[in-house]
Amino acid sequence: WHVAVLMGGWSAERPVSLSSGEGVAKALESRGHKVTRIDMDRHVAARLAEADADVVFNALHGVPGEDGTVQGMMDLMGITYTHSGLATSVIAIDKQLTKQALVPHGIPMPGGHVVTSASLFDADPLPRPYVVKPVNEGSSVGVAIVMPEGNYGFPIGRDVEGPWQHFDELLAEPYIRGRELTTAVLGEEALLVTELRPKSGFYDFDAKYTDGMTEHVCPADIPGEISEACKAIALRAHRLLGCRGASRSDFRWDDTQGVEGLYLLEVNTQPGMTPLSLVPEQAAKLGIDYPELVERIVEDALK
Ligand code: DAL
Ligand code: MG
Repeated sequence: WHVAVLMGGWSAERPVSLSSGEGVAKALESRGHKVTRIDMDRHVAARLAEADADVVFNALHGVPGEDGTVQGMMDLMGITYTHSGLATSVIAIDKQLTKQALVPHGIPMPGGHVVTSASLFDADPLPRPYVVKPVNEGSSVGVAIVMPEGNYGFPIGRDVEGPWQHFDELLAEPYIRGRELTTAVLGEEALLVTELRPKSGFYDFDAKYTDGMTEHVCPADIPGEISEACKAIALRAHRLLGCRGASRSDFRWDDTQGVEGLYLLEVNTQPGMTPLSLVPEQAAKLGIDYPELVERIVEDALK
């Protein structure tokens, strides 16, 4: 194949995307495929036309790239690309729209509502503990957890800087105490469950991308019932949203509540492919090495 690997761009997750994209490009080259690397800028349409590849591997994360804009452009241009299409991406990038799409189907997700960042200066939007996060960012960019006894992000108060201040709209959700779990879906199959155990604080940007800052337990040491529930929910969410190629569903599990304590937080339609990313790690545990994973995602696009 001739594969154009689309990466970079100008979202907050640009460095993550460059890492995903370079990993994907090297893997494809190692399998003898021709690769054109494209760092997305405002001339991306011209660059894609010039590359004239058989298929685009979309290694973009965040906005734009994971949100349907680039997918719609490639649809118009008649370009075949990996991962989810326009409509799925528009919904899945927005954590509130995702809830509106999935909760009526019985998928358990935390409650909460959208607030303006300005309103957070005046009052707690929910009883503590709660989480505020941008509706459409990835890699925990801008996430803050507000605890009754202190917090990981910011206390409410006029004089205090918070990571959320750069965003107009935020999602406020009850904080689910307990454990952080994730499940990948590849093609039409849920892979495994990984538990993320950050050495300190929560699974934020640094804990995600600094080697040694988070222990990955894969498969997670959890009851079979919980692991089956994660896989069933991840696969169902993948199908309900119409995801393609690969997705990754992130969960919180309150382990004092059994399966009733399991909540889906979000579905990632452009899951990371970096050396510390979770989809490649789950695939590897099942004997699918990184180049094979990349090829499978490309094959799914070419189907
Ligand atoms: N947003 C990052 C790339 C992920 O979900 O893996
Ligand atoms: Mg995400």
